[in-house]
Amino acid sequence: MAKTIIISNRLPVKMEILPGGEIRFKASEGGLATGLGSVYKQGDNIWIGWPGHFLNSVDEQDHVIRELTKENMRPVFLTADEIRLFYEGFSNEVLWPNFHYFPQLVVYEDSYWESYEKVNQKFCDAVLQYTEEGDTIWVHDYQLLLLPQMLREKLPRIAIGYFNHIPFPSFEMFRMLPWRKSLLMGLLGADLIGFHTYDDMRHFLSSVSRLTPFSVKEQFVQRGERRIKVESFPMGIDYERYADSAAAPETISQEVEYRTALGGKRLILSIDRLDYTKGIPQRLRAFNEFLIRYPEFKEKVSLVMVVVPSRDQVGMYKDLKETVDELVGKINGTHGNMKWTPVHYFYRSIPMQKLSAYYRIADVGLVTPLRDGMNLVAKEFIASKLDKKGVLILSEMAGAAKELSDAILINPFNKNEFVQAMYQALTMPLPEQRSRIEKMQVSLKKYNIHHWVRIFMDGLAEIKQEQQAYLTKQIDETDLPEILSRFEKAPRRFIFLDYDGTLVGFNVNPAACQPDEELLSIFEGLAKDSRNHVIIISGRPHQTLDAWMGKFPFTLIAEHGVWTKKENGEWSIKENLRKDWKVEIKKIMDAHVDRTPGSFIEEKNFGLVWHYRGVEVGLGELRSRELMSHLRYLASSRGLQVLEGDKVVEVKNIEVNKGIAAFRFISKNPEDLHLAIGDDWTDEDTFSVMPDEAITIKVGHAASKAKFHLDTVGDVREFLKRLMV
Ligand code: UDP
Ligand code: G6P
Repeated sequence: MAKTIIISNRLPVKMEILPGGEIRFKASEGGLATGLGSVYKQGDNIWIGWPGHFLNSVDEQDHVIRELTKENMRPVFLTADEIRLFYEGFSNEVLWPNFHYFPQLVVYEDSYWESYEKVNQKFCDAVLQYTEEGDTIWVHDYQLLLLPQMLREKLPRIAIGYFNHIPFPSFEMFRMLPWRKSLLMGLLGADLIGFHTYDDMRHFLSSVSRLTPFSVKEQFVQRGERRIKVESFPMGIDYERYADSAAAPETISQEVEYRTALGGKRLILSIDRLDYTKGIPQRLRAFNEFLIRYPEFKEKVSLVMVVVPSRDQVGMYKDLKETVDELVGKINGTHGNMKWTPVHYFYRSIPMQKLSAYYRIADVGLVTPLRDGMNLVAKEFIASKLDKKGVLILSEMAGAAKELSDAILINPFNKNEFVQAMYQALTMPLPEQRSRIEKMQVSLKKYNIHHWVRIFMDGLAEIKQEQQAYLTKQIDETDLPEILSRFEKAPRRFIFLDYDGTLVGFNVNPAACQPDEELLSIFEGLAKDSRNHVIIISGRPHQTLDAWMGKFPFTLIAEHGVWTKKENGEWSIKENLRKDWKVEIKKIMDAHVDRTPGSFIEEKNFGLVWHYRGVEVGLGELRSRELMSHLRYLASSRGLQVLEGDKVVEVKNIEVNKGIAAFRFISKNPEDLHLAIGDDWTDEDTFSVMPDEAITIKVGHAASKAKFHLDTVGDVREFLKRLMV
């Protein structure tokens, strides 16, 4: 049965080695593991990842493999060096700080990168070992950015999804990484790429459009023949699990125990991994300030701060631990007394049930990261509030803030706002607390983890289907004999050929594209056979086509159909075309050129083209959208059409297009053969007027109405040569 293979660096369980050598497993911390941990086990699904500890002995590894296999998991073991260089190094000293907007903390170290590549390959080998036909692969998080493409090279057709659990930084941040392009190329092996928020997705697409040669349109990236979708999927929690756990009798007795131990004070709760992105020192300073500004709350309120040890071998994390310890000591020393501890600080990991008791007991949840992909603690806090009493203070820098707008949202760098938020939370009337929590619960219940998995998986299936629909077939050795035999049998063949990008490659200097020796000999070969009727159909001026191909007995169509020269005839211009509209449209385009350095206007007999290939990426697209919307209204009332091409906006008479021009040369004789080859969007008009049986060929891999594709100009030439033998 087809299965889903989930891959993340960390498995949802991690191993611990007890002093006697015994190996034990416990739940991993972190949003990825807790979020997906409850849903991956359906069917034959498996989860591949690192069990979180270095193991030297093969016996121990075998034991771990056996134990994890029972739980549908397959371990990938990392060596001590790999843990240091790949995990602590590249993942957590390069990508983590850069993606969370802490560029000053990034350690630019080539050996980290080398190990990152190697370990991604190691994961790839492990995945290949377990993958079967029809499986779906779902890669998770920043530790495995190269894995999608590594898998794609081995499994070209398989469905690969990727989800990024942390923020994706703006291009200005991402560009600092020396390995930026390789990272994107790695990720673009996936078919569907998901982020928590629309902003992350926007940032990613902007980096792709600036750093890779692939075209980006709306939320799609076209990589060769593969269309990749980029989408935002805010991750939810297992709502029922948290609600049920909060209602369990053991949780309630645990809560009573805590309440007694904490001295019956009102409580503000914070829970996070010890991480500089979580804003723990800032939170402590704000709490200190709160006690100074509102002394009436002294002895009445305490901050319960659960800090889960994390990545403690990484230097920045060790430093942070010292800072937090000092700050807690200082606050408790300054404000505390025998009856009251202002900050209860627990540096440990706690199991789910105790977590639930803390969520229940807290009057205020304080979730104030400086930057966070989503933050599930905020959601778990809300789900645990069965009586709907309590207030969430949430940093606007967390992905969760986009959904939880009924929390008190703060900028964690703004101490004033922070202090005010604590005051507002502790004095909020009960009805208001209830109504806010209620609204958030309704949303979290609906957009839960099951919903998240479902829409991601549906999205992946959908894009795979779409890819199929868009796929033009490569002409291969099985198609060729049939095409050749049809060609041979046809009494007349109409051969429609685009010029630039189809018969010759692009050149920065358009004047340097005249036919070379090879092309001229192909033309001669085609011309020799009287059954061939060649129609060159191009956007170029007629003078150019005449100079380059006038001597052949071909029909030449220039300027997309404005000019036509029949076989051995004279040039004639399409009648009744108006061009007085050009004055007005040119004025508008001129205004755009004035505001957009690097752009220019190309004037054709019956068309105006605004080019923006030389404009700063992003600005050009923005201006082109402005221009399009400006022109669209004018165009329809003046019988013009506005077309958006590859870094161009073109305005021309509606009657001028390659399709209309080609149509005149399509015979009504079903015995005749029609062949059309072209590479860009203007050729789509030609394809669309071809009879059903026509052989239509797109050069390149962009979406097309053509039946087949060929990769390059060289392939087109080889194909034409085969027609002549
Ligand atoms: N968590 C845990 N043990 C603890 C404290 C927290 O498993 O002792 C869980 C918590 O319930 C939450 C996750 O760790 O599901 C933290 O996820 P979040 O998205 O808030 O932050 P991340 O750690 O992923 O940055
Ligand atoms: C975040 C990341 C996860 C990571 C987790 C715990 O949630 O998105 O990929 O697993 O933190 O970090 P760790 O380094 O212990 O795996």
